[in-house]
Amino acid sequence: MEKLLIQGGKALHGTVPISGAKNSALKLMCASLLSPEPLTLNNLPRLADITTLIDLLNHMGVTVTIAGSKGGTKVTGRSLTFDAGTISDTVAPYDIVRKMRASILVLGPLVARAGEAIVSLPGGCAIGNRPIDLHLKALAALGADIDIEQGYVRASAPQGLTGGKIRFPFVSVGATENALMAATLAKGTTVIENAAREPEIADLAACLTAMGAKIEGAGHETITVEGVDQLHGATHTVMPDRVEAGSYGVAALMTRGNLLLEGARAEDMQATLDALTEAGGIVEIEEDGVRVKSNGHIKGFNLVTQPFPGFATDMQAQFMALACVAEGASVITEAIFENRFMHVPELCRLGADITVTGSSATIRGVSALKGAPVMATDLRASMGLALAGLVATGETSVNRLYHLDRGYERLEEKLRQVGAVVDRVPA
Ligand code: UD1
Repeated sequence: MEKLLIQGGKALHGTVPISGAKNSALKLMCASLLSPEPLTLNNLPRLADITTLIDLLNHMGVTVTIAGSKGGTKVTGRSLTFDAGTISDTVAPYDIVRKMRASILVLGPLVARAGEAIVSLPGGCAIGNRPIDLHLKALAALGADIDIEQGYVRASAPQGLTGGKIRFPFVSVGATENALMAATLAKGTTVIENAAREPEIADLAACLTAMGAKIEGAGHETITVEGVDQLHGATHTVMPDRVEAGSYGVAALMTRGNLLLEGARAEDMQATLDALTEAGGIVEIEEDGVRVKSNGHIKGFNLVTQPFPGFATDMQAQFMALACVAEGASVITEAIFENRFMHVPELCRLGADITVTGSSATIRGVSALKGAPVMATDLRASMGLALAGLVATGETSVNRLYHLDRGYERLEEKLRQVGAVVDRVPA
């Protein structure tokens, strides 16, 4: 086990290269299951979650190689080729799924291509109960038979899926993605209503379209898919990570610094940029990315998490850290996930003044946070704690670093390059 040691108090200045988006890359990798021909993905981030999904795809018979190489076993790299010529196993075992909930995204592609998928239920997780009922209802609407036995979901459609109408009662990113991927190979037309509009959905649709899928409306509330008999190989570049970019944007404002988020796309993260501006940050769109800088003050602000284009729940913990050192009070309401305030007691260990009532937190800014050992609880919460450590006096250690490694590529290296004093040490 490792931990992050942060000596707070340095203003961050310079350029942070933004990696490919984890939340897009994972779905794009699952899409490789839809075609017997290879899918090459560029700009993949080097992250633990990507490695976990490679293990799962390998288990199903997908060969993963460095793009352009003739094979081999080394599968870390920015450009990888996923060859699902033969699917040898349609089971996603508990041992892999429990490590990463997003494994449920193999369900739609597998049942669409192989006629069957047996996927372990992901179980609860640190940010609430997180059921998968919408994923299952969507596949049932496309004609899959769904059974749950001994902790596994079995979806089968031996004669193939049939297009249908799917209307989600509320927005789910993952369920939209599973439905979208499954519909590409279903017979006839599928209409997905109340679809998620996150930029990762449009990225997935662009890749599927390059593979020969017929999709209209991705990125909007209604998506229409005309099923095709087979998808073919393609090459696709993963979109930039809007959550990573937003997190470094918070770091710029919080440390009273100035950072160019290189490669970030403002249109993917407007709600985050608006919130940074409301908190007193200066946001500038440049040719190479987005610049966030401080005018010396951080103002209190109010936020409610919402599906895209609203303020992303994945940015909530980082803005909570920002609010801890703002002038005045802030109110942050978490409307997407229950139990996504686990960073609150840890932030309070650093001297934050936070009161939680139901799904809202009131944060009264303090003049200084004080370094202390803290415990990461989930991926984005960990980043909130690391950000707090960057401005706390003295030393902060963030334990359970594996959470951060799931989603932030070369975190300490990127932070050091812009002036932070941070080290990874054995815990
Ligand atoms: C994805 C992101 C995650 C982000 C979230 C919301 C990935 C790998 N993860 O997660 O980082 O925080 O979107 O932007 O891309 N729900 C149900 N039943 C379902 C599915 C979801 O009740 O079948 C609920 C969830 O518990 C949650 C809400 O719907 O309260 C939204 O979840 P969803 O959009 O599905 O999140 P994920 O796709 O799991």
